[in-house]
Amino acid sequence: MVQNTASDIDIGEVISQMAEPILKVSHLYAGYDGIPVIHGISLEVMPGELVAIVGANGAGKTTTMRTICGLNNPLKGKIIFEGRDISRLKAHETLRLGISYVPEGRRLFAKLSVEQNLNLGAYAENMSLEVERRREELLKIFPVLKERAKQRAETLSGGEQQILAIARGLMSQPKLLMLDEMSLGLMPSMVDRMMEIIKDINKRGTTILLVEQMVQEALEIANRGYVIQNGRIVHSGSASELLDSEEVRKAYMGM
Ligand SMILES: Nc1ncnc2c1ncn2[C@@H]1O[C@H](COP(=O)(O)OP(=O)(O)O)[C@@H](O)[C@H]1O
Ligand SMILES: [Mg+2]
Repeated sequence: MVQNTASDIDIGEVISQMAEPILKVSHLYAGYDGIPVIHGISLEVMPGELVAIVGANGAGKTTTMRTICGLNNPLKGKIIFEGRDISRLKAHETLRLGISYVPEGRRLFAKLSVEQNLNLGAYAENMSLEVERRREELLKIFPVLKERAKQRAETLSGGEQQILAIARGLMSQPKLLMLDEMSLGLMPSMVDRMMEIIKDINKRGTTILLVEQMVQEALEIANRGYVIQNGRIVHSGSASELLDSEEVRKAYMGM
């Protein structure tokens, strides 16, 4: 047995080893018309973490996310959220349990105002005071939305629309925020800004699982990452390990 003196013990490390994952996906298969496009995905997210799933277009990132939140049915495998099996739950049920999915391509209501779009992110529609309080809080966090609160969503820039989509995802006060390709269609300077915003939301206490094709940008803000290729996890590790890996750099960062 190894004897530790008090000074050898890293408390953060001890706590992280004691904590249970908030999300644990085991051997997950899912696809379309019964044909799997993800083949045995396993991953974990610990409370407070920012975890990135990175990989090329068509690798199975969106399918993985949609299956976790209940928009797709798994063919096989298990999804455990806060110790509870959610493999068979539908999206409205996982939302109530605290999982909020911000889909690829924003899916805003173009003709509705920023405020109205935010209201639709809250599932507790009957608690209008609470919805209003939450909305005002988010408008403070994202001042760019406050300035445009009464404008129609379609009048916002691409970056602003993406921020609105994220803010709408936060309206339900999720325990786990899942972000699908937030960088899509944004110019490079806006991608960096978007990553800073995501990091900031995580620092404020929301656990985040995100998927990205922009591998380097995503790993630069993440704690840990998984690399997905043809529906399988081919690398995983701390974000810095993946950023340093020659194999990952060659395959995804053009180096
Ligand atoms: N609605 C669908 N019907 C049939 N095949 C699909 C559908 N959506 C995605 N696919 C296929 O599943 C695979 C994984 O897609 P997807 O999960 O969207 O990947 P990513 O998000 O990594 O780009 C791809 O081969 C894609 O063509
Ligand atoms: Mg996708």
